[in-house]
Amino acid sequence: MNSRDSEHMIAELREKENYEVIDNFAEADLILINTCSVRERPVHKLFSELGGFNKKKKPGAKIGVCGCTASHLGEEIIKRAPYVNFVLGARNVSKISEVLHRDKAVEIDINYDESEFAFNDFRSSPYKAYINISIGCDKSCTYCIVPKTRGDEISIPDSLIIQEARKAVNAGVKEVFLLGQNVNNYGRRFSGDQEKVNFSELLRRLSKIEGLERIRFTSPHPFHMDDEFIEEFSTNPKICKSMHMPLQSGSTKVLQDMKRGYTKEWFLNRVFKLKSMCPEATISTDIIVGFPGESDEDFEDTLDVMKKVKFDQIFSFKYSPRPETEAEHFTNVVDEEIASARLTVLQSLNNEIIDEKNTTQTGKVYRVYFEELLKDYFVSGKSDNNIIVKVKGSDELLGQFRDVKITSIGRTILTGEVVA
Ligand code: 5AD
Ligand code: SF4
Repeated sequence: MNSRDSEHMIAELREKENYEVIDNFAEADLILINTCSVRERPVHKLFSELGGFNKKKKPGAKIGVCGCTASHLGEEIIKRAPYVNFVLGARNVSKISEVLHRDKAVEIDINYDESEFAFNDFRSSPYKAYINISIGCDKSCTYCIVPKTRGDEISIPDSLIIQEARKAVNAGVKEVFLLGQNVNNYGRRFSGDQEKVNFSELLRRLSKIEGLERIRFTSPHPFHMDDEFIEEFSTNPKICKSMHMPLQSGSTKVLQDMKRGYTKEWFLNRVFKLKSMCPEATISTDIIVGFPGESDEDFEDTLDVMKKVKFDQIFSFKYSPRPETEAEHFTNVVDEEIASARLTVLQSLNNEIIDEKNTTQTGKVYRVYFEELLKDYFVSGKSDNNIIVKVKGSDELLGQFRDVKITSIGRTILTGEVVA
């Protein structure tokens, strides 16, 4: 989402202010830092980075701090780093060309309505297009700062989404990547008068676009994985068969304390429904260890879900207390060392699972969409089910689909050769 917000800001600045993106910040007239605040560490990093930028920037160059940390710290950023020229929250991206001309501007209204704002166009990849389908989040997961930085959830009208997808396809893009905090809650609330369209219907409408070959999305919420959604996912050939299912914890008790709205059993039920309808689907997840009150038994439940599901990819984190969240006040804190040890156990179990899965990969053939040039004359791309594959080749493969036979295995990337 931050990448897409950056693209939107670049688009506005190019169209309205004649700016261009350059590589060397020491020569820039404007330095924008787009921030995350989901965990604490990037917030500390912001202030050390800011100091560095201020020292090395060109005289007179402006510095703007944008994104979720801007939303939650607001004016404090200018107090701590007085050379910062403006602060622009994650929900105020469309005001970029305005704050640029107001020194010390702080725009952080978390319920500002950008849902119908038609941004100018800028895409960092000619092959795939990120498209926002909603802004904000209506959930209240007790560990999460996002509702405080991105505000209430509003869906973007389907007509605008389809228009954006069409425009991207006309420019040569073959894959769209739909973005929202809870994509499968799409349609819950629109800001204007608009026909009720749910996520499955949005997917059906998008898949009618000629020339659009692949649709990806993130993140769906396990709570909203109803049968209609799983069936649409499984049967619509344009939808890429990789599902992100953020588990967070395998313990029903911890899930309750996190206010996730589902149980261990519901999560497993949805996974097995998905696996039975779509055996080729890969599943990725997010897991937090060391949430307040997480006992050894609770953690065992998380390992149990991992063994049952055998995720294809996990993003795992130690719980990080965040300001203005409910869990910040929970007192049954898990010892730092215990949390670190659990993270190690979780990650080594994941490595075992991935290594075991990889033993069957050699010789398989995947349809790969090539997107990136790597070092040593390799080109990489993804299979429909999100497996990253590289082959020897050059830029003529970029933006092309090819059948690739896997010849050797790595944990994060497989190597293969083009067979058709
Ligand atoms: N501490 C650790 N991880 C967190 N996440 C969100 N908030 C926190 C927190 N306070 C993780 C969740 C989420 C992912 C984007 O970041 O797993 O799915
Ligand atoms: Fe945060 Fe929960 Fe919303 Fe995801 S669903 S952004 S974890 S509050």
